[in-house]
Amino acid sequence: MTTQFHAPTNDALKGKVVVLTGGALGVGATLVRLLHSIGAHVFFGDVLDEPGQALERELSSSSSSSDATVKFVHCDVTSYQDNLALFDAALEACGRVDHAIANAGLGEQGNFFDPALTLDSVKESPDKSMKVVDVNLKGELYFARIASVYLRQPDLNGKSSTAAADKSLTLVSSVAGFREDPGLTLIHSQPHAIRTNAICPWMTRTRLVAGIEDTWHAAGLPSNTPEDVAKVIAGVLADGKVNGGAMYIEGGRAWNVEEGLLKTRPEWLGEKREADLDKGTELMGGGEHWTANKSSQV
Ligand SMILES: NC(=O)c1ccc[n+]([C@@H]2O[C@H](COP(=O)([O-])OP(=O)(O)OC[C@H]3O[C@@H](n4cnc5c(N)ncnc54)[C@H](O)[C@@H]3O)[C@@H](O)[C@H]2O)c1
Repeated sequence: MTTQFHAPTNDALKGKVVVLTGGALGVGATLVRLLHSIGAHVFFGDVLDEPGQALERELSSSSSSSDATVKFVHCDVTSYQDNLALFDAALEACGRVDHAIANAGLGEQGNFFDPALTLDSVKESPDKSMKVVDVNLKGELYFARIASVYLRQPDLNGKSSTAAADKSLTLVSSVAGFREDPGLTLIHSQPHAIRTNAICPWMTRTRLVAGIEDTWHAAGLPSNTPEDVAKVIAGVLADGKVNGGAMYIEGGRAWNVEEGLLKTRPEWLGEKREADLDKGTELMGGGEHWTANKSSQV
């Protein structure tokens, strides 16, 4: 069963150096205020300069108890250089970074799998929708890569910074990070439901794993032949029913792990949370609200 996390309300973050993205509005801006009020030094990036600068001005000039640094840096998380500049601002001012939070994110920009798509309209490249992938995936990867280096600077007393002090990287994801959401999959989209499954092979004896094959065998671990994997893929096609599955393949056997995850979800998430999630998903329908809401579109 999942355990509830109770956020501590101590001043452990006082004097810590925190870098975060998407800090001009919403959750990010609220977090900037909270961290500043605790006395952390906050360096926050965003593409929206006006609200970002206004927040910096407001907090810097406020007569709040905190005299900690608060700095806005223009940062488009899809730009590697912008991410670097954000971390550099913190490192140059404070000599270290303690905590990094990838918070910037976009909601859906158009219905990627729009059931109304036709042979004509599908020819147009979904550039607007791909912006979501750029921000939510590429942006977080850039940020995490750079954070992994900046968080361990500088060496302290001969130890790496991460060994000498508490350091963290936090990725703001979504319920969609562990559960499919409307508009994002074809699995349930009516009236054009298309069975959609994933294939997750473990060690399969192709050139991809040539370097490790002997050690693997010596360890007595199971492996697949390429034929094993091909048979499972063809089997998923031929089955005619399996939908929303994820086939873990080991030793030539396939296991639909998604089925197990779904079946046990009330156990590990709790029945009330599971029931609420189902209700919310039903309310979201086909995800039309994403695009109807102009304020969330770029
Ligand atoms: N609000 C929700 O219900 C919800 C649900 C699940 C996940 N989230 C996630 O929480 C995080 C915060 O979202 P929010 O609800 O505060 O939304 P928001 O739109 O109010 O704030 C997001 C911030 O990210 C910024 N941003 C967008 N693209 C950017 C880019 N390319 N570079 C830098 N900054 C960029 C925006 O300008 C904005 O300031 C996001 O990662 C979002 O995906 C929110």
